[in-house]
Amino acid sequence: MVPMLDQAGLPIAVFDSGVGGLTVLHELLVSLPGEDYVYFGDTARLPYGDRPAEELREFAIQIADHLLAGGAKLLVVACNSASAAALDAVRSHLARRGAGVDVIGVLGPAAQTAVAASRSGRIGLLATPATVASGAYERIVSLADPHVHLESVACPGLASIIEAGFPFDEHLVSTVRRYCAPLRAAEVDTVILGCTHFPLIAPMIQRVLGRGVTLVTSGPGVARSVERALAARSLLNPRRGEGSYRFACTGDPIAFQALGTRFLQMPLGEVAPVSLQVVARAAA
Ligand code: DGL
Repeated sequence: MVPMLDQAGLPIAVFDSGVGGLTVLHELLVSLPGEDYVYFGDTARLPYGDRPAEELREFAIQIADHLLAGGAKLLVVACNSASAAALDAVRSHLARRGAGVDVIGVLGPAAQTAVAASRSGRIGLLATPATVASGAYERIVSLADPHVHLESVACPGLASIIEAGFPFDEHLVSTVRRYCAPLRAAEVDTVILGCTHFPLIAPMIQRVLGRGVTLVTSGPGVARSVERALAARSLLNPRRGEGSYRFACTGDPIAFQALGTRFLQMPLGEVAPVSLQVVARAAA
């Protein structure tokens, strides 16, 4: 058993299929600057959003084991597709192993923020096919308020276009227009960006939907949940200055570094390559 004092000094682990989770990491870096972070992008297996739930559960458990084996005091699943399919499975898996770490997903914080923000009770959801098919947002939103109408739009391919990077072109704009059309028709006043890649193109989505629509991302709510979870276990890092952050991915580390630096707008430093065999071995 690691003594409490040492455990508070461990990093917070964050993962996504790619660079999308950087939108969540950025909120954490701002809200909890004294913490250390390790970010893992499973870029070799992206996109997650077209994969079956069972496969996403397998990947998420592998990554959780891999990250905790490297030392982490809390795990953030910064991916809607993985959170929708695997959050409960990862929690029970780690509980069975006696890991004693909290696992925070992105759906609850986004859904609760949207329900609180909407005046009309008509909320839109833009998400991957896997997230929409899971029905998880419908369940969380109707638990928060059974009278809210959720208009869900699956956006196949959109996360991959964003992950492919710059330059963003007319094809991306017309894809965004197509996916936003049902939300405009449904006259929603609030839209959940239910894929962590989508906040990276928030300016484009906001222009298509208009100023009257509030865009909701999971980042700020996730940061609050992380802070509460760490405080409850007396695991907040007492450091006054800024902590460190480091990155690893299963695909091309140079491409991840180039794209991640542009999206995070902070230097990523060297990105460590991790082979899928190493990730799978951690869970064996
Ligand atoms: N960023 C992820 C999400 O929030 C998944 C994108 C993908 O790999 O399809 O769902």
